[in-house]
Amino acid sequence: MTPDPITELVARRIGVLISGRGSNLQALIDAAQDGRLDASIVVVISNRENAAGLDRARQAGIDAVVLPHTGWPSRDDYDRALARELQARRVGLVCLAGFMRRVGPALIDAFPDAVVNIHPSLLPAFPGADAQRQAIEHGVKVSGVTVHFVTPELDAGPIILQRAVPVLEGDTEDTLSARILAAEHQAYPAAITLLLNGGWRIVGRRVVRPTGPDAASPSPPRADS
Ligand code: GRF
Repeated sequence: MTPDPITELVARRIGVLISGRGSNLQALIDAAQDGRLDASIVVVISNRENAAGLDRARQAGIDAVVLPHTGWPSRDDYDRALARELQARRVGLVCLAGFMRRVGPALIDAFPDAVVNIHPSLLPAFPGADAQRQAIEHGVKVSGVTVHFVTPELDAGPIILQRAVPVLEGDTEDTLSARILAAEHQAYPAAITLLLNGGWRIVGRRVVRPTGPDAASPSPPRADS
């Protein structure tokens, strides 16, 4: 079985999009530095100039770019500008990490099957903002983390990895958020590693890793990575 051409496109040069605190960015930086993630974060882009994550990037020696989302004629124009910044740095995988903007086809099509997001719930439960508050209000006993491909529909793309997190008696939005965040910091590097190891493909809504005699051996990263 020939290597999946989609997987071949996923280079080990990562661009991270943020809007704020950047603790997931930090988890990726740490994982890349200590060898758990065999990839390089080559650029961090924020739509907000005061995002704390920009300092995390600078401290790690990573190119930190501010690209405000205001003042563009359209959402597509902004997404195209994002794509240009990422392509200029030969990014192969785009990771959204608390990027508080919907992204559309102008960015997604520039990186086919190579834009991913982390969301603090077990999707399809509780998409959108305040996922942890939604979980508390709904009274679920288990919530968690989802890493998924980004599609134009909000928080609805094919799921790469999920981790369950218990909701405990007496949890508040804050205590649940903290427990989920700790799981996020483990899940994101793990999900990216799954992608970079290759051998997967998207079938309908599912990200599948074929097994058996025809299974692909892990696809190698792109030669220019
Ligand atoms: C995380 O909970 C992430 O799942 C969500 O936004 C939050 C970002 O936190 N998409 P941080 O900026 O990575 O600390």
